[in-house]
Amino acid sequence: MQEEKLTNSIYEKRFVEELFDKMSGTYDRMNHITSFGFSARWRKQFIKDLNIENAKVVVDLMSGMGECWKPILHHCTPETEIIALDFSGEMVKHAKNRISSLKSQSITVLKEDVFNNSIASSCADSVVSGFGLKTFSEEQLNDLAKQIHRILKPNGTFSLIDVSVPSGKILKFFYLFYLKRIIPVLGWLFLGKVSTYKMLGVYTEKFQNAQRTKQLFERHSFEVEYYTYFFGCASGIKGKKRPE
Ligand SMILES: C[S@@+](CC[C@H](N)C(=O)[O-])C[C@H]1O[C@@H](n2cnc3c(N)ncnc32)[C@H](O)[C@@H]1O
Repeated sequence: MQEEKLTNSIYEKRFVEELFDKMSGTYDRMNHITSFGFSARWRKQFIKDLNIENAKVVVDLMSGMGECWKPILHHCTPETEIIALDFSGEMVKHAKNRISSLKSQSITVLKEDVFNNSIASSCADSVVSGFGLKTFSEEQLNDLAKQIHRILKPNGTFSLIDVSVPSGKILKFFYLFYLKRIIPVLGWLFLGKVSTYKMLGVYTEKFQNAQRTKQLFERHSFEVEYYTYFFGCASGIKGKKRPE
């Protein structure tokens, strides 16, 4: 009962929001370290096959500090509108600072909860989300599927990625050891707090990989494919909204 209560509370809005507010100052560096320097490469990969060359509107959910914008802009035109959304005030502040360093003419950052957002229905050619899945419970992942379905135009495409637990025994052992034992220490060194970065391991171990997310998305009239990156250290789904 106690365990279940604890598990549910780590998915509560306030808890996650505060976690990212606290991490915002060190997120860039820690994201690089926790993914063994792979995060930038994975962002390029998960956006690459989306065919956003002609997209008028791309929505970036759980956009953090705008880490996905460069890879998005690499594939689309400067006229493409990017609508980014994140509920952490601190992450949004950093994201807004990033805009001036980019070539895009149109990036809007919304400080909103993805489950209660003001993005218009059927407005997006594509929806992306980088590393924003693991802090959602199964019910929330199902609600995320509903939101992405609402936001996308018919035939609109999406791609989502997050860090995952690899299935190979040896890699899994070292990966979990790194996430659960080494990362909290690095978090302590950078942030002075072990508990904040310890949560990354807790969320990743509960998330495992994007297989369950795939099943949930399949309930919502999407064509969905499952992908893994670097022996399963990250996984994601890509697909398209079926026309009505
Ligand atoms: C791990 S960061 C990912 C940032 C960025 N997309 C990247 O590629 O690194 C996850 C982000 O999701 C945001 N987030 C989590 N739950 C959310 C929700 N319900 N609504 C909006 N943003 C949320 C957090 O504030 C955090 O900035």
